[in-house]
Amino acid sequence: MFLQNEVIKWACPSNIAIIKYWGKHGVQLPRNASISLTLSKARSETGLYYSPKVEEKSKIDFYLDEVLNESFANKIVSFFDDIIHLYPFVKNFDYVIKSHNTFPHSSGIASSASGMGALAMCIAELEVALGLSLKIDIQKASHAARIGSGSACRSLLPVAGLWGEHCDYTNSSDLHAISIADEVHNVFHTYHDDIVIVSAKEKSVSSRAGHGLMENNPFATVRYTLANNHMTSLKSILQNGDVDAFGTLLEQEAMTLHALMMCSAPSYILIEPKTIEVINLIRKYRAESKDPLYFTLDAGPNVHMLYPHSYAERIKSFIQSEIKPLAQSGLIIEDQVGEGPVKF
Ligand code: DP6
Repeated sequence: MFLQNEVIKWACPSNIAIIKYWGKHGVQLPRNASISLTLSKARSETGLYYSPKVEEKSKIDFYLDEVLNESFANKIVSFFDDIIHLYPFVKNFDYVIKSHNTFPHSSGIASSASGMGALAMCIAELEVALGLSLKIDIQKASHAARIGSGSACRSLLPVAGLWGEHCDYTNSSDLHAISIADEVHNVFHTYHDDIVIVSAKEKSVSSRAGHGLMENNPFATVRYTLANNHMTSLKSILQNGDVDAFGTLLEQEAMTLHALMMCSAPSYILIEPKTIEVINLIRKYRAESKDPLYFTLDAGPNVHMLYPHSYAERIKSFIQSEIKPLAQSGLIIEDQVGEGPVKF
């Protein structure tokens, strides 16, 4: 049926959430729907080498940048157990997984979305290689990626992914992400996201723990209602290409996310003094130039600067002169919206 040590390779990009997923329940089910733009340069490239298993239990070796990583291998063992209902054949093989991130290891950029996305694509293709499916089932792959890391399920879709059930979006689901590329104005298809690395230190509170703290957050219910309303507003903004309305919502979501962290019990802060300095510079530049440069934040101190391609020359020159000096080791990752996973 198959040769020994076959390999499947997929690259999957990271994504940047506009409406944030923050709070979950059950098996990785979101408390609110979220929407992200799919990036292109910041991605994980993963090779899945598989051969018939030798012993009762599958053996998994995981290499990150050619270095054996036991803790990641253990995570993948439990990930494979968790997706067995979707892909029962995963238990039949031994694996060597080799992964590489295109963004620097020490950049503080989370690799869970791109990493889990790439691995899910490899498994989805294995299903095809084994003759169990005629073509890659993206919906199912997104479902599997979600089980690995919630935000990963959105990375599999071109341009923009939507995850979580919402009344304004038909076919939306808590189980997997859907593509909304067709409903997104052209201006967003080439949007830029330049990421200022303010600090590459490991986060003091993981995303997983942060989601957990939402369960007792006094503002949780208000947050889920607000996110729901933001989903409605974003729908028409994405359709009509209003970049200032987009940016205003983007910043409000980022600030809400970090405000929620600050009022958790226990409270915690992931932004740093330099995060605020960058934010203030962006707002000053915007006020003076009227250019639609807006920011967002993930669960960390690094600042994502989003802007339309037609403003790239002017905005990049501002970033080089005013923002770069604040970046750790001058590191700015210049990314742009992209088409999703690529086989290589
Ligand atoms: C702030 O997807 O990293 O980036 O499901 O526990 O793996 P897990 O969490 P994760 O959370 C991402 C949170 C966020 C917002 C977002 O991407 O929507």
